[in-house]
Amino acid sequence: MNEGLTMAVGPWGVSFASDITSDETGIGTWTEEQFSKALKQGWYKGIDGGRKLLPPMPWQNFREMKDGDVRAMYLNLKSTRPVRNIVPSPVSPRLQASTF
Ligand code: HEM
Repeated sequence: MNEGLTMAVGPWGVSFASDITSDETGIGTWTEEQFSKALKQGWYKGIDGGRKLLPPMPWQNFREMKDGDVRAMYLNLKSTRPVRNIVPSPVSPRLQASTF
């Protein structure tokens, strides 16, 4: 991981921690349902059938989280100061290998 723990390298390639502040680059426009689907089912942006969230986001550990707890986190994050932060897309391991 990098010093700020916002980037991780592993067999999945390179992943970057998402913006989950209340900005529109974060979860500002998300519904609670989207937040729950991202957190508990690992769907990117909470969109069913999109891509799965990569490690080290530990979404598998949140599967059994109660709706009330998900809601509390959602409302807390929605109340944060918005930080505009367009995070880079993940890099696949294949792409990494081909650059060397
Ligand atoms: C309660 C704690 C956490 C919450 C509420 C949370 C929430 C989220 C959400 C909602 C996303 C999806 C964002 C999107 O789809 O745009 C996400 C992605 C991510 N999270 Fe977490 N997270 C938590 C803990 C962690 C931890 C402990 C790590 C790392 C050690 C982590 C690393 C990541 C990474 C790398 C991504 C991006 C994954 C990808 O692009 O596929 N998260 N997180």
